[in-house]
Amino acid sequence: MTPGAAQAIWKGLRPCVGTLAISSLAMVCERLAVSVSSMDTDSLTVRLVGMRAPAASSRGQGTKTWHSLDGIARLSGMKRLALLVLVAAAALAAPAQDVAGREMAPWQPGMLDIHQISSGRGNAALYIFPDGTTMLVDAGEQAQKTPRHTPDRPDGTRPAGDWITRYIRHALGHDPQPALDYALLTHFHSDHMGDVSDKTPAAPSGAYKLTGLAWVGENLRIGKMLDRGWPDYNFPTPIEDAATKNYRAFVKWQTENRGMKVERFTPGRNDQVVLLRDPKKYADFELRAVGANGEIWTGVGATTRRHFPPLDTVPRADWPTENHCSTSFRLSYGRFDYFNGADIPGIPSEGFPSWHDVETPVARAVGPVEAAILDHHGYIDSQNEFLVATLRPRVWVLSVWDSGHPTARVWSRLQSQRIYPGPREVFATDLHPGTRVVISGIEKLASDRGHIVLRVSPGGGEYRVVIVDDSSESHRVTKVFGPYQSR
Ligand SMILES: [Fe+2]
Ligand SMILES: [Zn+2]
Repeated sequence: MTPGAAQAIWKGLRPCVGTLAISSLAMVCERLAVSVSSMDTDSLTVRLVGMRAPAASSRGQGTKTWHSLDGIARLSGMKRLALLVLVAAAALAAPAQDVAGREMAPWQPGMLDIHQISSGRGNAALYIFPDGTTMLVDAGEQAQKTPRHTPDRPDGTRPAGDWITRYIRHALGHDPQPALDYALLTHFHSDHMGDVSDKTPAAPSGAYKLTGLAWVGENLRIGKMLDRGWPDYNFPTPIEDAATKNYRAFVKWQTENRGMKVERFTPGRNDQVVLLRDPKKYADFELRAVGANGEIWTGVGATTRRHFPPLDTVPRADWPTENHCSTSFRLSYGRFDYFNGADIPGIPSEGFPSWHDVETPVARAVGPVEAAILDHHGYIDSQNEFLVATLRPRVWVLSVWDSGHPTARVWSRLQSQRIYPGPREVFATDLHPGTRVVISGIEKLASDRGHIVLRVSPGGGEYRVVIVDDSSESHRVTKVFGPYQSR
């Protein structure tokens, strides 16, 4: 075989060559006792990684010359054939890799994917668990649009609920009947569940309006809905604003007509969200409910403690707000841990009691994680020093579309090597141009625009961050970061 022919084979294989193929190749080379003089295994491996994802390189991958094609050509016939056959087999068995400029590779069994969807209207995340079980966390659709906000993503031709639904359908393309096994509404704010106005269209049933989460749930069956308020929605006071009323009408109609289940998200429990399709295969997977309504997991068994004082001992003006009551959870898969604290604050406003800091007890229970979404979009009252020092993630995900997200002090805490040492990357869905002007050093963001996909490899040992274009529905990868090793 000539180097030209070997090059042609590699060209064909390259798009689907994965990590597995690379390590198999290294093993094969060892078995065949290919000497370094005829074939430099190390440089081949390094170079292949670089060729797969040129934009991913933050660790000097792809810096060596790939000079092993000549090596393949110089091998004896049998060795050469065996090598190529084995590499081809390994490539076919390996998961497809994400490459900048190409469409994101489909989810495959064993992977944990966390898609933070950029809509310009609020938070929405799709989780695909290792056995294919799916979960939606929020689907916001803020009605208000001011110069403080970024434009709709991809654009304003559809409402956010519709864009989110379409994104999810595409991400679940592997499933002939895409559905959401779970949906979690973290708290009753419109940037997490959808606003209603005179212009909001009604559902065909007429029972509620189609916005945010209700839009998604109208179009994709939700198996179990979890929120902090069910069944009476009255903590700390009855929750009766128009947007929450609409959400409750959606829940009522879906449970009565479409068999949707609904439960109150219960801190301490790890059995409310479980794998539904192949749980035995992925025993080291867990979603732990950490906090909601001021009740917070202790980190021991399923026990919790009340963080808020009895409300009858507290002046009404100090009562917890909707954000204080947000849910929080920790997701674990092997050694990989992820934290989501929704909009919990960690820094009380001036003159307010210390228990307005919800982050500290939550972080104490959660401990170190590989990746976390910033609480409250990185707003002024969030990411206190204790939380940053305790979670100490390698990867921070920032769901933003507002010029107040993040704020300068939050940004400096995230960067601080005193709070925790070592490298870390921050990824933002849609940084507002005003924020770019105001916060010095914000250009250090690893990415400031696009859907952010945390893609955890089978077993949880390593993970990547894949940034996907949010200006269209191309699902084109713009950048790839990692792999990072779970600790
Ligand atoms: Fe929010
Ligand atoms: Zn909120």
